Amino acid sequence: MSAQPGSELISLKQVGAESLWKGMWRLLEGRRLAYVGSMLGLGIAALGRSSVYLLLGFFIDDVLSSPDFAAQVPLVALGFIGLAVVQGFFTYLSGTLAGRTGEVVAERLRNYLYDHIQRLSFNFHDRTKTGELIQKVTSDVDAVRRFIAQEATQFGRIVTLFLANFAALFLLDGELAWLSVICVPITILMSIWFFKRISDAYEDFQNQDGVLSAVLQENLSGVRVVKAFARQEYEQNKFEKENYEKYERGRKLLIWHSTFWPLSDIITGAQMLFGYYIGAQMTISGQLSTGDYLSYITLLVWLIWPIRNLGRVIVEMSRGLVSFERVSRIIREEREPLEDGQASLPERLKGELVFENVSFEYEPNMPVLKDISFHVQPGQTVALLGSTGSGKTSLVSLLPRFYDYTSGRILLDGVELKDYPRRYLREQIGIVLQEPFLFSRTIRENLRYSVGREVDNADIEAAAADAAVHDVVLGFPKGYETIVGEKGVTLSGGQKQRITLARTLLKKPSLLILDDSTSAVDTETEASIRAALKRQLGGRTTFIIAHRIQSVMSADLILVFDKGRLVQQGTHAQLLEQDGIYREVFNIQTMIEHEVEREVASANQGQ
Ligand code: UTP
Ligand code: MG
Repeated sequence: MSAQPGSELISLKQVGAESLWKGMWRLLEGRRLAYVGSMLGLGIAALGRSSVYLLLGFFIDDVLSSPDFAAQVPLVALGFIGLAVVQGFFTYLSGTLAGRTGEVVAERLRNYLYDHIQRLSFNFHDRTKTGELIQKVTSDVDAVRRFIAQEATQFGRIVTLFLANFAALFLLDGELAWLSVICVPITILMSIWFFKRISDAYEDFQNQDGVLSAVLQENLSGVRVVKAFARQEYEQNKFEKENYEKYERGRKLLIWHSTFWPLSDIITGAQMLFGYYIGAQMTISGQLSTGDYLSYITLLVWLIWPIRNLGRVIVEMSRGLVSFERVSRIIREEREPLEDGQASLPERLKGELVFENVSFEYEPNMPVLKDISFHVQPGQTVALLGSTGSGKTSLVSLLPRFYDYTSGRILLDGVELKDYPRRYLREQIGIVLQEPFLFSRTIRENLRYSVGREVDNADIEAAAADAAVHDVVLGFPKGYETIVGEKGVTLSGGQKQRITLARTLLKKPSLLILDDSTSAVDTETEASIRAALKRQLGGRTTFIIAHRIQSVMSADLILVFDKGRLVQQGTHAQLLEQDGIYREVFNIQTMIEHEVEREVASANQGQ
């Protein structure tokens, strides 16, 4: 049976919010009967095993000395065979049931985590390393699977084996039975003491494993940077350092384990010797028959076995529980609500925007936008200009509610932004992010991604043409079916930028944001994109972030930022009249352009 994601995702919602055991129980939903069945199966198999020894005692004491010995032997033999079959069948059955339950739970947990992680806020992703998330979805989920498929059922098996053998022993001789389990409280206390230490050591180990996979993931993603700066050795050292730390923590974990095992072996070994001795004494003094003594010593072996393993399993269960807690911590993270907000939602936004004393910070008390106020009429083009780190990207990130502003008000078509559901805003607002990202799929699929359904090829091609990339794509041997390599490596920087632009244009958003989206495109192509946008946009509010004055000078409103403050606003002509950053930047850029023109001219003359 395979898990059916949809229905199961809902029922898992509370896993993280409840106690560890309740969460585990919830995870088993739909498989509980099978799981309890697997434990019962182990119990029956254990009973079968204990009965073998009782039958052995009966055979020696009663059958061997019986007058119709020959008639009883086949019956006893049949009994032995029957018990072996029962044992084998139930061990197999419970192994399969538990194993399958473990797989189902792991699949369910992975699906849930994947869905959950992509619904967490930008804030969560800002502070979490991708590699660590990957490690939790893989390694920790696997530890939970092992816990359910093996350790928890082992625990059940051990307890039933212990009880069954103890009961069998008790039937033989009550006093002897009690004398044979003196070590149980000592073993349990010791396991609990070790459980705590091993849990801590394992958590340390898993944390470091997460760090290591984050380092690995980052190095591999940035392998081009590493090579470009010939920093392989530095990266190698960094990796070796973290890897050594993982080895160290793994060693500590192993030391705890390897201290525990011999200690528990000594205790149970002493118990076994003690049992043999007492049993022998009782047989010599005639309290116990030889057959019973033979049954006793084999039963004792199977009584000590679960005691010895109880400790191990308690200690090993700590891994599953620690991993489950690590996974639960992600599940407990609040999702970013997509459907909140009360506003009645028009089909399309008009695009009037009012910022009133808006401030914003990513981290408490570190404002990146301070007291911003401006007014955009529907259909206007707004340009944002400012040095790097001045807060332009942060400002436009507020509009689709990637982050919520800290104070002040933003009104979109007269309604406070926080009253719009995030999903609606993200459907209405098209944003071309500053760092272009494409999936490793075909160009067509990448373009279609923004609309999430089938679209006419004509529309795809028109959007690509507006972004001045249609001809480029046709130039590829496979055209729109070209597969974009991981991180878009089969495309140039400018091509990638233009495809991400086309992807957003295809969506025909009612408000468009271009964050430095033509920085890697030559001036001529940029001009053609601008012309196409003007044609296509007609009446759609557009935000353009750019560094070139040429890209911003025709805007209806230019906003100039400096260190998180809006220092100037107006049209090109108005700003040129003011003494300020805009005029400075304009002068510098035109001076550079004139210089270049002069140099080109003199180079031409010299030829
Ligand atoms: P921005 O990313 O808004 O700057 O960061 P910008 O104007 O767009 O810069 P360029 O032109 O793209 O380079 C504004 C401030 O916010 C901080 C940055 O450190 C910067 O000081 N910041 C940005 C954060 O603290 N967290 C983030 O996730 C992003
Ligand atoms: Mg930026």
